[in-house]
Amino acid sequence: MAREGGPAPTESPTVRPRLRLRPTMLSDLDFVISVETDAQNLPFITPWERTQHEGAVRFPDFRHFIVEAGETYESAGFVILQGCRNPHGSVELKRVVLQPKGRGLGRECVRQLKRMAFRDLHAHRLWLDVKQLNTRALALYQSEGFVEEGRLRESVRVTADGVDGYDSLIVMSMLDREYAARVALRLEIL
Ligand SMILES: CC(C)(COP(=O)(O)OP(=O)(O)OC[C@H]1O[C@@H](n2cnc3c(N)ncnc32)[C@H](O)[C@@H]1OP(=O)(O)O)[C@@H](O)C(=O)NCCC(=O)NCCS
Repeated sequence: MAREGGPAPTESPTVRPRLRLRPTMLSDLDFVISVETDAQNLPFITPWERTQHEGAVRFPDFRHFIVEAGETYESAGFVILQGCRNPHGSVELKRVVLQPKGRGLGRECVRQLKRMAFRDLHAHRLWLDVKQLNTRALALYQSEGFVEEGRLRESVRVTADGVDGYDSLIVMSMLDREYAARVALRLEIL
């Protein structure tokens, strides 16, 4: 459900949530799958088989991380980048799934992933797709500077809550020069 007032302002918050990304281990996959298949998250993603996560943990084209947050850095979710060795420098923010919601962890994750993609992986383009019905994620990506590229019309089947229909995927991206401009404006974490 859309909140009033539209997307959040894009200034960096003065107080950032305590959050770090650590590489996922195979022993984390029970946790990853439990978060991914949680009924709160399922409508917004297409869950993977365990073997796909195992591949993403092992293959260097992926970066698979556990999100740790809070005072004791408890596991809060996971994120996946894909295309880290893409010859065109096009890196995909493949998945971000968090269990505690609405506490600013998603924004901090996206900021850390942008920094990783552009500063560490020297990406030319960071892109993602998001279901049109996912208003929370859409607002987050828009307010973090991602630009809509287009819509893949009715490309995902939606069968939840007695509904049987299709949703569209919105493709969004940020380019390295757009990221650099945001860094210059202090809209990005360093
Ligand atoms: C999408 C997700 C990663 C966002 O993380 P989060 O920690 O809940 O989000 P944040 O607290 O950082 O909020 C970020 C912004 O989202 C938007 N937002 C938050 N709650 C919202 C809601 N209920 N409705 C609409 N927008 C909302 C706001 O713009 C918010 O910024 P603000 O608080 O500064 O106004 C997380 O909710 C999640 O894991 N959802 C399920 C899986 C999913 O949808 N993954 C993304 C697939 S593309």
